[in-house]
Amino acid sequence: MSPVDRLARPLRNLRLSVTDRCNLRCAYCMPEPDYVWLPNEQILTFEELSRLVDRFLPLGVTRVRLTGGEPLLRRELPVLVKALAAKPLEDLALTTNGVLLAEHAEALRTAGLHRVTVSLDTLKADRFIALSKRDHLPRVLEGIAAARFPGQLKLDAVVIRGVNDDELEPLLEYAGQVGAELRFIEYMDVGGATHWNREHVVSRAEILTRLEARYGKIAPLGVPGPAPAERFQLPDGRAFGIVASTTAPFCRRCDRARVTADGHFLTCLYASNGLDLKTPLRSGATAAELEQLLAWTWKHRSDRGAEERAALAAQRGPLASAPVLRAAPHLEMHTRGG
Ligand code: 5AD
Ligand code: SF4
Repeated sequence: MSPVDRLARPLRNLRLSVTDRCNLRCAYCMPEPDYVWLPNEQILTFEELSRLVDRFLPLGVTRVRLTGGEPLLRRELPVLVKALAAKPLEDLALTTNGVLLAEHAEALRTAGLHRVTVSLDTLKADRFIALSKRDHLPRVLEGIAAARFPGQLKLDAVVIRGVNDDELEPLLEYAGQVGAELRFIEYMDVGGATHWNREHVVSRAEILTRLEARYGKIAPLGVPGPAPAERFQLPDGRAFGIVASTTAPFCRRCDRARVTADGHFLTCLYASNGLDLKTPLRSGATAAELEQLLAWTWKHRSDRGAEERAALAAQRGPLASAPVLRAAPHLEMHTRGG
């Protein structure tokens, strides 16, 4: 009974944000001096999150990723991981900035987490501080070293011109050393990225040209699926990915839904509003009622947010200004899950 949306896309991937808080201030996500946080009492409990995932399973969800903000700031996260690991999921993953990973890796692995993706934009300590306003590169590298999970470790690097685009090769070399697959992410004009401009974007095409000049012919690896990253292979066999959401979006294949930490159901990263699931969850809606609500929402989904943004071409700028984001924190990337 898995529904498809108006563009015939199934629902397979669920990204659950477990907190909007973060212990870094990445320039492409949280550049402002201060933020409006979701009130504590509105944050879904682990029990509510687990019940919600149960309602998503009959709709076709097979993969769950925990995101934030920084999900490891959520106390006792392994308790939630354990509850989710007991469900019939093909994949249970975590996106983290790595700062707290060394401390929690063992408990997460024991709880049944399949794999992690760690954000890593630079290997230079001073640049890490300039980018994230915190001196935590050593902790992130320790976290990566401690990240031994059954599934493939992934490292995500947002590439920004004039900021870290001179580190494509060092990041690839480092990923190879730690047994991870690196993914280059195009800088996106999402909520939160109030300083975004087109000149700062290093496109997939440019990344490939630069890497070919260094390593030789690069070949595509497999055919693009619903995952946002397209995979490639260097002549020596090393694989890497590129997420070209800015210059070559993949909306037609998108099977992802997001739930914010306070239970807003978003059917697109760029969606301007979401469906409140917290109210029905907390006011005694039955399992059948919740499933109907989710199925109805998915069936009416027609979002192609990234493609619509790309169509703006030269008119494209930041999605939202800082005052707009202050008034509507749900638009923030650290609220909807990077
Ligand atoms: N552009 C690209 N990726 C972003 N992320 C957050 N903001 C942006 C942005 N403006 C993603 C990055 C980061 C993850 C936590 O969120 O992939 O690694
Ligand atoms: Fe950086 Fe992620 Fe925190 Fe945003 S949520 S500031 S991308 S670590």
